[in-house]
Amino acid sequence: MPKRVLFVCLGNICRSPAAEGVFRSLCPQVSTDSAGTSGWHIGDAPYGPMQNVAKTRGYSLSDLRARQFAAADFDRFDLIIAMDQSNLEDIEALRPTGSDTAVRLFTDYAPHSGMDHVPDPYYTRDFDGCLNLIEVAAAGLMAAVVESD
Ligand code: 4NP
Repeated sequence: MPKRVLFVCLGNICRSPAAEGVFRSLCPQVSTDSAGTSGWHIGDAPYGPMQNVAKTRGYSLSDLRARQFAAADFDRFDLIIAMDQSNLEDIEALRPTGSDTAVRLFTDYAPHSGMDHVPDPYYTRDFDGCLNLIEVAAAGLMAAVVESD
């Protein structure tokens, strides 16, 4: 069972903090964090519109702050979850030699969604749709985590 899960997107202000916020409320026994492949928003709180939509569903993201993904995260986490293929490739490019830490797409845990990535609401502006998909994938991830225990 993965005890430490890291959620990764591009900016670490929309998708990955929302994924962390939803998953930690579903599965508080697992330690979580999130990071961005870019350093564009280091130290920033999650994006206001994302926080607002999350808050209406009972998830507070206000304690989270953006940081950049680093090679050392392969040792710090048991499972790294990417929001899209580009994130996954940027993560894999930093994999230390010999590391076998699992890296998966979040949508792997939402097989019935028909989605192969979590669309970036920073560009689509569909914060509700993003959170819908995140809730489904987080529930799927929780089921996978519990099953592997
Ligand atoms: P995220 O969305 O990767 O889901 O956090 C983005 C947030 C900000 C930017 C890009 C994506 N940006 O270009 O600043």
